[in-house]
Amino acid sequence: MLRGHTNGRSQSLMNDYASLLGEAVLRHQTRTAEHAARIEAELASRVKSEFIANMSHELRTPLNTVIGFSKLIAEQERRRLPDAEIVEYANLIRDAAGHLLAVINDILDISKIQSGKYTLDKRDVQLDEILLAVLSSFRLLAQDAKISLDNRVSLTLPLMRADGVKLRQIFTNLVSNAIKFTPEGGTVIVEAKQLDDGRIAGIVTDSGIGMTAEEVQVAMTPFGQVDGSRARWRDGTGLGLPIAKSLVELHGGELRVNSVKGEGTQVWVLLPPPTQLTIAEARDAILGHASLNHHHSAPAAMREPTP
Ligand SMILES: Nc1ncnc2c1ncn2[C@@H]1O[C@H](COP(=O)(O)OP(=O)(O)O)[C@@H](O)[C@H]1O
Ligand SMILES: [Mg+2]
Repeated sequence: MLRGHTNGRSQSLMNDYASLLGEAVLRHQTRTAEHAARIEAELASRVKSEFIANMSHELRTPLNTVIGFSKLIAEQERRRLPDAEIVEYANLIRDAAGHLLAVINDILDISKIQSGKYTLDKRDVQLDEILLAVLSSFRLLAQDAKISLDNRVSLTLPLMRADGVKLRQIFTNLVSNAIKFTPEGGTVIVEAKQLDDGRIAGIVTDSGIGMTAEEVQVAMTPFGQVDGSRARWRDGTGLGLPIAKSLVELHGGELRVNSVKGEGTQVWVLLPPPTQLTIAEARDAILGHASLNHHHSAPAAMREPTP
């Protein structure tokens, strides 16, 4: 009886204690969550204000060019500018508008990537064709910059499943950087090959200004520019490399930067090996899935070893 009573009392004491403990844990959890939320909000707001400061400069400068020079042209009646000057202003306006469009596209890309909503449109593509197109789009720029642009793209690359538009964007960013950060007389090499492990590598090498290890880290963060203090609005937003890296990773690949300050930079884009079709899969691809329904048991035996 007494025993039972004691048991009952300790039981209820235990219950009280448990509920007190439970409340304390809950209170602590709420406080921790509030604290985490506050830190996150502070970080978000700091990143946001850095972003706004950076972007207002990136957007304002070309817009001022557009407004300023179009105003000059609009006053032609009074100004009587020579034709050559008008052509020059029109070119400046076009460059500024093109830059603005590139900035806006980059911002939309990075925010889409960061929200995880970016999807690839994978098709059968040939990396060598993409690289040759990138090379020819930079011929003139390289020539103007007195930089030799060398083609070392293997023409025997296998077909791969990838988003060709995004691959082109990746290498356009890399070659543009290589040319931008290489002084007159330098060399930019674009190479592509299949590695022994089956991966496809696209490599952009330059003999330019190079970066230290810390500078490479800065370069890989969104909006990060090494020596961002220099006023060089033509030189972009600091989004090119982070976008390229994300696009490579969306493909299941890897982007690596090897750089030596004062000597040059080499960027590797490593893409996963193109998957080998099994005989059954190849047959399905040709005949269509609907016509066959007993093939699922067959492929394992027919699967060829991957090299
Ligand atoms: N090939 C390169 N050689 C030297 N520095 C580079 C190279 N590529 C990128 N960087 C550095 O990394 C920074 C970020 O590059 P990126 O993200 O493409 O932005 P952006 O080209 O708009 O500046 C550049 O501003 C530059 O300082
Ligand atoms: Mg760039």
